[in-house]
Amino acid sequence: MNKNNLIKTEAYVNGEWISAASGKTFEVNNPATGELIAAIPDMNREDVRIAIDAANEAWHSYRDLTATQRANLLKKWYSLILENKEELANLITLECGKVLQESLGEVEYGASFVEWFAEEARRTYGDVIPAPTNDKRIVVIKQSIGVVAALTPWNFPLAMITRKVGPALAAGSPVVVKPPSETPLTGLALAYLAEKAGFPPGVYNTVTTTESSEVGKELCENRKVRKLSFTGSTQVGKILMNQCSSTLKKLSLELGGNAPFIVFDDADVDAAVKGAIISKFRNSGQTCVCVNRFFAQDKVYEEFVSKLSAAVAALKVGNGLDQGVQIGPLISKKGLNKVKQHVEDAVAKGAVLREGGKEIGGLFYQPTVLADATSDMVIAQEEVFGPVAPVFRFSTEEEVIKMANDTEYGLASYFYTKDVSRCWRVAEALECGMVGINEGLISNAVAPFGGVKESGVGREGSKYGMDYFMEIKYICFGSIK
Ligand code: SIN
Repeated sequence: MNKNNLIKTEAYVNGEWISAASGKTFEVNNPATGELIAAIPDMNREDVRIAIDAANEAWHSYRDLTATQRANLLKKWYSLILENKEELANLITLECGKVLQESLGEVEYGASFVEWFAEEARRTYGDVIPAPTNDKRIVVIKQSIGVVAALTPWNFPLAMITRKVGPALAAGSPVVVKPPSETPLTGLALAYLAEKAGFPPGVYNTVTTTESSEVGKELCENRKVRKLSFTGSTQVGKILMNQCSSTLKKLSLELGGNAPFIVFDDADVDAAVKGAIISKFRNSGQTCVCVNRFFAQDKVYEEFVSKLSAAVAALKVGNGLDQGVQIGPLISKKGLNKVKQHVEDAVAKGAVLREGGKEIGGLFYQPTVLADATSDMVIAQEEVFGPVAPVFRFSTEEEVIKMANDTEYGLASYFYTKDVSRCWRVAEALECGMVGINEGLISNAVAPFGGVKESGVGREGSKYGMDYFMEIKYICFGSIK
């Protein structure tokens, strides 16, 4: 199974495996056990500047490869990722706590972006536009944007890298990847496989650090970085946006959510419970498209809460490497405390605990269902990012749309109904970037992922994804006789 020894303990810059110039390192630990996995370079602003210079240097020759040559490199990388699927999944579970079955799914999900953008590399079509006068011809071409900085989160250590790096590399843009300090090892393993795939030195760089704000500042303020793509909290996204204004850098931001999941009276309640479990408890509730608020209509309220509580009670919690485990640990003490505080606040304000509600040692928390949730609870406004399902009650469609939209976020929404007219009405009325109708799992490489309001800027994946890594150039041919 261990084909390549994918645990790398150095950073990858300009085709070389290196330490931090200061020699400093930091430890990466397993959140399920607290055990040390590895110590890796703790790089600073200067180290990152070197990586940016290398990427910029590589840009000039990399962008001149043909689209087919870039596509072939991506295809090779895709094959290597899949050939090392088990080992990569194991690594994801080790450093992020995600259960193994989900980690295997993440490797496939992540690889699908590489495959998709290998195909898209050859479809970056421009345009010929009818000119306003006969002596001119107007052509539009698309060109690679230049060095791309990819700042990625711990909850998808692999897929959030490939979703950004795939289109950048396809478009002809070198990358500087900064994986999070909690889960950098999967990012380094991806860099290793990119090296094996044959990307030229400087095209694919990965820097590791605990000094996220200093390093982030360099990536935002360095003029050679032409595009920054970030997945993480809205709070950090706003800081990065501010910092990027100094160079008017192009930005894609995939930020927080507060996803509603609405169960109408005419819904198939069993299907809704199935969708609820998938959507709420994926990665122990730690994805930005996880449901944060359930809304059930009067007639099905009790049935939905009872069936959801029974399904939640059956979830097996434990170390993600153990057979049959469905819910792993939270990523950190901070994450665990937030979950505890949200539940305590809800119960103090009248929510009824129907299942769970306790921490169970280490970073583990029982999957939890709270009935009779109300809008004054913290959980109604803030992403809990953990295995807690609060259920609100509503009476009319109009009322629930107001409740669902009563948030500054607008990433994903879900609803269950059998009424086709309602499907259209509600999908159009929800203020968000993505909607699941009678479906709890909506993420895939062919669809545009992203949010509105304070959930972000831009879209990733799909036919729309490439454009965020390219510039449009208009060329006017004059004096045509
Ligand atoms: C995220 O939580 O950041 C991404 C979730 C997904 O791609 O489904």
